[in-house]
Amino acid sequence: MNLVVGVGLRTGTPSAELQDLVTAALHELAGEVRLVVTITGKENEPALQELVAQLGAGLRTFSKDELAKQSVPTPSAQVEHLKGTPSVAEAAVLATGARLLVPKRQTPNTTIAIGVQAAAGNEAPGRAVVQRAAGSEAADRAVVERAAGYDVRDRDVVQRVIAERRDVRRGFLDLPVDDVTLGRVLEAAHRAPSVGLSQPWDFLVIRDLATRRKVHDLAIAQRDVFAASLPEDRRAAFDGLKIEAILDTPLNLAVTCDPGRGGRHVLGRHADPRTTMFSAAIAIQNLWLAARAEGLGVGWVSFFEPGEVAAALDLPAHIELVGYLCVGYVDEFAAAPELVRSGWAKRRPLSWAVHHEEWGRRDTSIVDDALQAAQNAVPATGQRVHVIVGGDATQLRQAEALVVDLKADRPPADFGVLWRPARTPAEAVEFGVEIARDLALQGVGNLVVQIEENSERAEALARGLQVGASACGLTHSTT
Ligand SMILES: Cc1cc2nc3c(=O)[nH]c(=O)nc-3n(C[C@H](O)[C@H](O)[C@H](O)COP(=O)(O)O)c2cc1C
Repeated sequence: MNLVVGVGLRTGTPSAELQDLVTAALHELAGEVRLVVTITGKENEPALQELVAQLGAGLRTFSKDELAKQSVPTPSAQVEHLKGTPSVAEAAVLATGARLLVPKRQTPNTTIAIGVQAAAGNEAPGRAVVQRAAGSEAADRAVVERAAGYDVRDRDVVQRVIAERRDVRRGFLDLPVDDVTLGRVLEAAHRAPSVGLSQPWDFLVIRDLATRRKVHDLAIAQRDVFAASLPEDRRAAFDGLKIEAILDTPLNLAVTCDPGRGGRHVLGRHADPRTTMFSAAIAIQNLWLAARAEGLGVGWVSFFEPGEVAAALDLPAHIELVGYLCVGYVDEFAAAPELVRSGWAKRRPLSWAVHHEEWGRRDTSIVDDALQAAQNAVPATGQRVHVIVGGDATQLRQAEALVVDLKADRPPADFGVLWRPARTPAEAVEFGVEIARDLALQGVGNLVVQIEENSERAEALARGLQVGASACGLTHSTT
């Protein structure tokens, strides 16, 4: 039997998770897997590539429109919402012309289905992904592993801790964090890379309740300031969110930066002083990952004016606060960020973030992608935003106003002003698409676009805003 394995998977799915699922399903079948099939855009996922190499199979992809045409036994409304097709794994098998033998099976990050090809010899439809011979791939990998790389299982552990790290604000247990465990976590932080090996961080370990109360008061005050800045519907959603766990955790950590550490000749810092803060932020990420592996939840609180926390903690004047962390044991970590689960915000697809060789050259043009997505967009609800294209900051009268400044000079920092000095009208369209889609990720459901500048770039950006809005099902109008 010539078998076809259909795969739907999340970005960063651990290879072992996919391979174990496929191995278990194949266990009951006699046959050889000739083809692995999936949705266009997933062909470069490492777990998928490793599965294909391990099976010595071919890889084919189908667009979401081709998949949506298939009549599958177990469609999913959620997958339809996210991918524009009610099924990936089952639909991809059926799209090859194969008969479905094993309907969909799932783990948290991946779904598979298996089919049998009706007749050998016919080229299956779909887009073939150029795959190197399984043998040479395996040989190359063996060389890499022998040289320095980890084996698959260890690589999966690294991917797993990255994927399963969460910002945690709820569900802390009433358990102390002992010094040995804390030492391991701080050791990981202290191993972070730093500009010129300047190691600009320090870690202030705070268990004292009175100190934590002072810091807590500051966070609550800033929470109120932020809430007051929000439009009404967004404020209601924000009221349901927990933004800190300062008093709910046994341990708080203030991670600081000494921007001058190492003196004048720190290698790599002279042209970009920001690198010292980057170094301290990376130390926090190391800490966060090591804590996850220990079962310790970490919540980063930034609802502060940093100087106020520095004063509450009596920090020396040359030391800057980088992150304030709440740390404690939890008995579970959520599978997705709390802001995603609560509907406050959504993740941005990796494909929007990767540009090849020049800015704007993505695997799929963001404009084409938006035009395609518009055909299957599900109507969205959410906050109304008034986007003023080519205006200036004086136009920011209401909380829902947002100015897109097209001038050549960077305006003063203000999150109500997006500075988009597009170099060409085509780039302006892209920027418009991007702004609309990024706003949708932040819970916007309605765009009112007002063009304030009489220029080709302003018109193009407004056009992009409309395309981007349509792609996400936002209602939109131009005034
Ligand atoms: C620099 C920084 C500051 C943050 N500040 C806060 C905060 O003040 N309150 C909060 O609830 N979460 C805060 N977070 C957590 C983010 O909301 C969280 O990382 C994001 O939603 C993704 O979720 P995840 O970390 O669980 O993957 C912060 C994260 C970072 C990196």
